Amino acid sequence: MARIIDTPLHEAGGSCDARAIHGAWGALDAAARRGLLYTPEVKAKTDHLYEKVKHVIPAIEWPAYAPLIAAINDMKRAKNAVVLAHNYMTSEIFHCVGDFRGDSLQLAREAAETEAAVIVQAGVHFMAETSKILAPEKTVLIPDLRAGCSLAASITGADVRLIKARYPDVPVVTYVNTSAEVKAESDVTCTSSNAAAVVEWAARTWNTDRVILIPDEYLARNVAAQTGVKIIAWHGRCEVHERFTAQDIAEMRAAHPGVVVLAHPECPPDVMAAADFAGSTAALQHYVEERRPAKVVLLTECSMSDNVAAASPSTDFVRPCNLCPHMKRISLEGIYDALRELKHEVTIPEDVRARARQAIQRMLDLPKEKPRAFKVGMPEAAVELV
Ligand code: 13P
Ligand code: SF4
Repeated sequence: MARIIDTPLHEAGGSCDARAIHGAWGALDAAARRGLLYTPEVKAKTDHLYEKVKHVIPAIEWPAYAPLIAAINDMKRAKNAVVLAHNYMTSEIFHCVGDFRGDSLQLAREAAETEAAVIVQAGVHFMAETSKILAPEKTVLIPDLRAGCSLAASITGADVRLIKARYPDVPVVTYVNTSAEVKAESDVTCTSSNAAAVVEWAARTWNTDRVILIPDEYLARNVAAQTGVKIIAWHGRCEVHERFTAQDIAEMRAAHPGVVVLAHPECPPDVMAAADFAGSTAALQHYVEERRPAKVVLLTECSMSDNVAAASPSTDFVRPCNLCPHMKRISLEGIYDALRELKHEVTIPEDVRARARQAIQRMLDLPKEKPRAFKVGMPEAAVELV
């Protein structure tokens, strides 16, 4: 069984036990207030799900989560609904109520293809908007309207219009971690699974050596180090990944000899240079499942280690405890209420949706490939900051 070794890196990093935010007692109380109890019927319906999370949820806590899990799964069937669960969801959500699981690119593809009438986005608001853009005829729900993203909040549609006025012939590649309004002003979107490929495609298609890549400054710098394309960047940051430092990596290597360090490309360039492997959340998961390292640290959101550990029992995970406060707004009780009351429905004005769709569709139409790894140990590349 995989071991989870908590290593709080920063004093203000929050609790390592992501589930503690809602916690077993919170779930138990929320279930009771909704008239849901751990009955023999609930036990029979959920025992097989416990097998997937027993490495992170103590047996004594399972009766607190199981009533909400059973009720959500029953309601999904009754309402022809699916839950799209991002890799950063806590394990009781990810493994026990998620119908489709993955990184933001995988979830976007699922939203475009699902036949369900209702999509519940267990992720943040921009992901729910992406689902609505791709599946306008479906009811798309976000369990908590406060589940935002520091990158999405860093830029507006008006900002993009100003950038385009300054660089009229340069294509705009926009990270999916943005609002529908920002996507609508963009030529094509990308995710961390395909950012370098999309930037190279845009440079070829627009016959230029310069591409605007917004809004994540670090992603832009990391992509610039991978390609020969000159990058014009914005100053957005992910509030979770910007906290990792090269010093953290040095300390983890000293404390855990032989540990393999995997980084998400929203991390600063000096962190990418010091890591052993880098890529999207899906690329990090594939690395662990294919290479089966004895001990890893995932320099990304804390819950991801728990979720990958379920399928990688021979690997130990050093968990650096950086939580995304927005992802952690999503709870079992929030998903239950969203399904029961069909709230909070995501809506997008049709003209914005149609233009944003074009930018996303260009990305989805590119040849489907495995999440592209970022080369690590690269010298830092210069970018032009707008
Ligand atoms: P992925 O596309 O790698 O899932 O990343 C989304 C995200 O929000 C990372 O912080
Ligand atoms: Fe946004 Fe960072 Fe949270 Fe991802 S981890 S949703 S990029 S704030």
